[in-house]
Amino acid sequence: MSSSTFQDSVILITGAASGIGRQLAIQGAARGASILATDIDTTGLRETKTLASQQGQVIEIQELDVADPEAIQSFAAQVILGLSGRKLILINNAGVGLFTGSFEHTSLEQFEWLLSINLWGPIRMTKAFYPYLLQQNRGHIVNISSVFGLAGVANQSAYCTSKFGIRGFTESLRMELAGTGIHTTTVHPGGIRTNIVRNATPRGPVATAAMHQQSISNFEQAAQTTPEKAARLILDAIANKKERLVIGPDGRALDLVTRLFPVRYSRIVMKQIEKTFTNPYKDQSSQ
Ligand SMILES: NC(=O)c1ccc[n+]([C@@H]2O[C@H](COP(=O)([O-])OP(=O)(O)OC[C@H]3O[C@@H](n4cnc5c(N)ncnc54)[C@H](O)[C@@H]3O)[C@@H](O)[C@H]2O)c1
Repeated sequence: MSSSTFQDSVILITGAASGIGRQLAIQGAARGASILATDIDTTGLRETKTLASQQGQVIEIQELDVADPEAIQSFAAQVILGLSGRKLILINNAGVGLFTGSFEHTSLEQFEWLLSINLWGPIRMTKAFYPYLLQQNRGHIVNISSVFGLAGVANQSAYCTSKFGIRGFTESLRMELAGTGIHTTTVHPGGIRTNIVRNATPRGPVATAAMHQQSISNFEQAAQTTPEKAARLILDAIANKKERLVIGPDGRALDLVTRLFPVRYSRIVMKQIEKTFTNPYKDQSSQ
């Protein structure tokens, strides 16, 4: 694996105040890259800076809401000026979950809110930095999808839509950028032990705090990979120009099932979920 990948490179990470994004900042710095860590959570960002600074590299932090098109525009204009020809590794990592239940109980506003972060965020960030990448004819775009970008699952319609979208977007860029010096990686993590499910507070007409608690327990039981390991694998994938990365044994199992049974996987996965977990929405009809 070439360590030169990260020398003279700037890794720009969205959602770097927590979870996988924070680990990408810490480990990216340890591999010799300059880090530009962004998030809406400025307290978490400062903690990331403290942790990543211990690696002896330059860590800059900046508040950035990836759902805000104007903020992205002015952020990109200012960052590009400071890049001074260095290689840009853009990691579109910021993401949220939504705990509403089925599509029936998810409003269009909630659906749109999630897409504005998980799907439009990476599209707008990529668009803003694309001229720089093309002009340099080098760099890397890493988009964090999910195993829910490989399999559609119940009660996750907005999230799955966003993550399938990320996959289609990144794979289209991959073909368009073939033969250039700009690389792409689509990442499909299985369960990673972060706060993402805890942060997805209950919303809508049926979701309750007790249901949310059940879903947190399910997630804690299922999530097999640490954010430290996920970040290490993502940075390895960048160094090795790997175009598709599926993380964790659960991720690889779901990847295999969806490829072997592109339609029947719905029933297979549903049975497995019913066997393994308590359905948080089982009392939904009595609410
Ligand atoms: N944890 C998992 O099991 C898992 C599995 C598959 C994919 N992912 C994806 O990995 C990525 C990172 O998630 P994580 O698990 O580390 O979660 P996390 O909740 O620990 O971190 C997500 C970060 O995104 C930030 N964020 C939220 N909205 C934002 C916005 N509008 N603008 C900028 N930042 C914003 C949050 O403040 C937080 O710091 C997400 O895209 C998520 O969908 C996570």
